[in-house]
Amino acid sequence: PTQLTPRANDSSFISKMKSSGRNVIVFYGSQTGTAEEFAGRLAKEATRYGMKGMVADPEECDMSELSQLAEIENHLAIFCVATYGEGDPTDNAQEFYEFLQNGDEELNGVQFTVFGLGNKTYEHYNAMGKYVDKRLIEMGAQQLFELGLGDDDANMEDDFITWKDAMWPKVCESFGIEAQAQDINMRQYKLTVHEEYDPTRLFTGEIARLNSLKVGSQRPPFDVKNPFMAEIAINRELFKGGNRNCLHIELNIEGSRIRYDAGDHVAVYPINDQALVARLCELVGEDPEKVITLTNVDEDSSKKHPFPCPCTYRVALSHYVDITSLPRTHVLKEIAEYATDNKEKEKLLLLSSTSEAGKAEYQRWIVQDVRSIVHILEDLPSCKPPLDYLCELMPRLQARYYSISSSGKLYPNTIHVTANVLKYETPTGRVNKGVCTTYMQQLKPDNGTKYHTPVFVRKSQFRLPSKPQTPILMIGPGTGIAPFRGFIQERNLQKEEGKPVGETILYFGCRNKDKDYLYEEELTAYKDSGLLKLYVAFSRDQPQKVYVTHLLEENKEEVWRIIGKENGHLYVCGDAKCMARDVHALISKICQTEGGMTPSEAEQYVKKMMNQKRYSSDVWS
Ligand code: FAD
Ligand code: 2AM
Repeated sequence: PTQLTPRANDSSFISKMKSSGRNVIVFYGSQTGTAEEFAGRLAKEATRYGMKGMVADPEECDMSELSQLAEIENHLAIFCVATYGEGDPTDNAQEFYEFLQNGDEELNGVQFTVFGLGNKTYEHYNAMGKYVDKRLIEMGAQQLFELGLGDDDANMEDDFITWKDAMWPKVCESFGIEAQAQDINMRQYKLTVHEEYDPTRLFTGEIARLNSLKVGSQRPPFDVKNPFMAEIAINRELFKGGNRNCLHIELNIEGSRIRYDAGDHVAVYPINDQALVARLCELVGEDPEKVITLTNVDEDSSKKHPFPCPCTYRVALSHYVDITSLPRTHVLKEIAEYATDNKEKEKLLLLSSTSEAGKAEYQRWIVQDVRSIVHILEDLPSCKPPLDYLCELMPRLQARYYSISSSGKLYPNTIHVTANVLKYETPTGRVNKGVCTTYMQQLKPDNGTKYHTPVFVRKSQFRLPSKPQTPILMIGPGTGIAPFRGFIQERNLQKEEGKPVGETILYFGCRNKDKDYLYEEELTAYKDSGLLKLYVAFSRDQPQKVYVTHLLEENKEEVWRIIGKENGHLYVCGDAKCMARDVHALISKICQTEGGMTPSEAEQYVKKMMNQKRYSSDVWS
């Protein structure tokens, strides 16, 4: 009852398309903004090819109208859908996914194409893109152009531009129009500079509502659009040596009514490095204190502003605009116009071109050299794009997720975070710092200074077994230990409450015993108390590497006893790229050597464990 249902009118994309003469609609399923960004680019490009496009969030649309698209001449529905977590749809595509699953709808005459955004590192590569494409065909829709698959582990941008550059000519051909993109520069947002303004009406970093981040006057429920300002109660260093840092943070959530379970994620809204913000303003010759509003020129769009406006450039660049990730090719193309030096202009045009030479240069000069927009403008000094245009072109700054490292039962008033501070040198000799971890590192309460940061909790599927006596095997090297600290705290509580707690086994790994062994004292204490069976792999304390996978292999009889004979649960957390994959392969191997299975039986067994939630992953790359 508290949820606002959109007015019938608002959710009718068909009437919107008809009344504004549009024939192309781009739906996005987006979690971190990339799919939404791609959708925006496609809608804009449709116009360049003489069509008229619009972007739509399936969550805000009545998707049962899809079949009515057939009434619009030369129409096209494009779906830009990301796959999230373990092959799941993004939050905003969940209902659309259910619609497709239940759908007995006939989509005859509906023309569509799909671009999926995924990551090969993960088990269910592009599951959503593939599913949407398959289902639409099954429901009778006509695929105008083949499914495109983007791999974020390799080069998503390259995959996307290669796909769309082949897609448009095909679409034009089928519409009987000339496939000639016009090079018209289209601004999506109009700039207003406020010479006079009421300072109390300016946004200062709020996600949605003005003043919604005022500590003390916040109102629950807290979620992605209404984050809670949690006080940083504790922020301490976990590493004992070396030159890397790992933070243990405790967020005070008292009075917020936020509840969480071990295994859930907390999201933190970061603030960009102030030195970078100042540098970017300096490079383009803009005043950070200027107060601006960007307004969508498309009056039918449900998105009036790219971010909360009015605000100063400083606020926009600190809170709302992603200024550190690698700029995509269309950004480079748009800013090329503002390079007064011809060589620099040509360089930008090459970087944004879809030719082989262009792609190779993008790979080298942008990807390998890790050049952000600031670095690009530093290295191409004649290029001075207007800052409001950059604010339009660059993606939105995203919240970062962390696996909560405490148990909500033991710590109902605090959420613990275990985060590695990201810092590395690039081939151009610059030091790049992770946005959120660098931001959090600075929030050290001392001498009565209090810090608060906007957070919200996202529920996960990563859960302890319902019965405490079920044995568990946890594999979490590095910060992969995070959710297991919560699991162990909870099992310990159950034990103290006199419940029969099953075997609790942890495999942890780090580089050196005396440097990055996380929570050594706590883990040792749980081990000594008899709760925890602990195996630790130190990878760099001897000439040869020792990893958690090596220890698992050594203990294969015990591993098989837990997962094969005692119906135990296996959990993996941490690096998705190598570790999680190696663990999967090893478990499959153990099923063969210890369980006497063939390779395909072993794979089936692992799949079955996953379906039964006896093999769960909480991994990131
Ligand atoms: P960013 O500014 O976002 O920079 C990160 C990006 O920099 C990377 O995406 C990569 O593209 C690039 N990059 C990194 N290293 C290099 C390099 N050497 N060369 C070139 N490019 C590079 N992290 C934890 O520490 N603890 C957790 O418990 C945890 N749990 C997570 C749970 C989930 C579900 C997810 C999705 C992620 C989790 N993470 C966790 C990761 C976390 O969300 C952030 O990605 C991480 O903290 C980095 O954020 P940042 O803003 O500091 O870095
Ligand atoms: P390394 O950095 O010495 O290679 C936490 O990051 C620990 O996980 C480190 O000790 C790291 O070792 C180790 N690690 C790296 N790759 C791994 C893999 N494929 N499987 C298991 N552990 C790995």
